[in-house]
Order: sequence, then C-alpha cells, then structure tokens
Amino acid sequence: MAVKPVIYGQSDRPPRGDYSRAREDYTCDQNFTAYTEDDHDTWRKLYSRQRALLPGLAAQRFIDLLPQLNAAQGIPRFEDINARLLPATGWQLVGVPGLIPEVPFFTLLANRKFPVTDWIRTPAEMDYVVEPDIFHDLFGHVPLLFDRTYADHIQAYGQGALKAHALENKDESCQAAVEHLSRLYWYTIEFGLQREGEDVRAYGAGILSSPGELAHSVQSPEPERLPLTHPQEILRCMASTYKIDSYQSQYFVIENFEALLALTAPDFTPYYRQLALS
Ligand code: PHE
Ligand code: FE
Repeated sequence: MAVKPVIYGQSDRPPRGDYSRAREDYTCDQNFTAYTEDDHDTWRKLYSRQRALLPGLAAQRFIDLLPQLNAAQGIPRFEDINARLLPATGWQLVGVPGLIPEVPFFTLLANRKFPVTDWIRTPAEMDYVVEPDIFHDLFGHVPLLFDRTYADHIQAYGQGALKAHALENKDESCQAAVEHLSRLYWYTIEFGLQREGEDVRAYGAGILSSPGELAHSVQSPEPERLPLTHPQEILRCMASTYKIDSYQSQYFVIENFEALLALTAPDFTPYYRQLALS
C-alpha cells in the first residue's frame, strides 16, 4: 500500500515530495542520480553562504562538527555520512520524501534513525522554503548528531513522544500531550539557543539553516530570550504556541546539552496533566 503525503499547518499547494516512492515506514532511498548539476550548484551556494555566517552566531560544537558532513562540494550521499555517523554515535540517516506523520517520525528517532528529505529547493527559494528540504534537514540537524549527548537527547525525545502519544490516547488528563511536547521540540531542536560564556549561540536546526534568522536570533534586540533551565520554564515553553512563517519572537536558552538532557529526563506525565488544565 502506498503511503499518503503529509501536510502540517495550512498550505494551498500539495506537498512536493513523491510519496509513491516511500515504504510503509515512510522511508525511501535517496534518489541520488536524480540530482542535476543545478541541484548540486544550489547546494554549494547554500552551504558556502551559510558556513560563512556561522562564526560568532552558531554553537561552537556545531561549527566543529560540520566538516563531518564532508559536503562543501555538492549534495552528499547519505550512505557516505552513515559510514562516519554510525560508528560515532550509532545514528543513521534515512531518506524520506518530505514531512512524515508523527508516529512514524517519532518511531524513527526512538530507533536512532534520522529522516532526511532527499529533494532540494529551487534557486528561487534560496532564502526561504516552505517545507523542510535536504539543506535544512542535513545542514541544520545532522552535524550535532555526531555529538554523543545531543544524539542521546534526540533519541530520548523520540521515545518520550511515543509515550506522549500513547498517554494522550489512554489518559483523559493528558490531553494534547504530543502538541505540548512538540513545542519543546520547536524551541530546542529547531530554534534553540545556548549559552557560551557571556554570549548566546544558536544550536537549533531551523536557525542554523536560515540565512536571516541566525543573526536575528542571536543579536537582534527584538525577540525575547528566556532561560530554559528549570522545570517551570519547560512548562512555560510547552505552553507557548509558535509561528512557522516568520522569525520567532521568543527563544529559549539552555546552558548546554548535558543540562538539556538532564532537564528533560524526568517523566513528563505530570507536566502534561498540568498543561491540560490551563
Ligand atoms: N523524559 C520525558 C518523558 O518521560 C520525554 C522527553 C525526553 C521529553 C527528551 C523531551 C526530551 O516524558
Ligand atoms: Fe527540522
């Protein structure tokens, strides 16, 4: 049976990926021979522009690990990255045609498999693309999968999200648990900032793959930057809705990945209960 495409949020055009290629778990082979020279050129431009913006704005750990992709010269093969990633942290990249539904997504993460969209944006979308493409997924997310602590955190998130999904369906008092937890994902894994000495730096993939939001998130006086170090602040984060079509007006700042792992280790069931009441 072919899987159906997935649409999150509102859009007036169909998803771009070809979901007829996907297996039951929504993964597909990276269609490497389908990339044109123009596609590789788009990748090189995105990569070199973004790489040049990182110093002073991106987390140092991310800058240090980016060369692990070995991707400055063109779109990399997932299998080449996997040959380094699997021995480093036990993670593997798997291809997907685009966004996939929640449960298959969480299941992949819980099994240390990271889904990467295999198509790349068009030259007209250099600054902004509506759906995540291979540049966002690979450049934004994959370098930090080479960090042990961060890699463990992403797996814990996948396991926690499966638990939230099960809870939501069996426990009335945990209504919207997945949505609440997804906001934490948004404000950490996608748009997270961390402390580095006196400064803040970006580690969230949505920021790291965006030419404009990198400086906005770290340097602009406009957005709020709230600490994410105590359980209270987790609750505040999970209560915060977010926008997907503009720069964030609020960011959450962690101390470091060890602290994030420790902060999210407790059972979240009481948090879900409390949030369902408010
Ligand atoms: N520890 C959380 C729970 O038991 C799950 C979780 C892990 C949430 C990692 C966020 C990040 O529900
Ligand atoms: Fe992402």
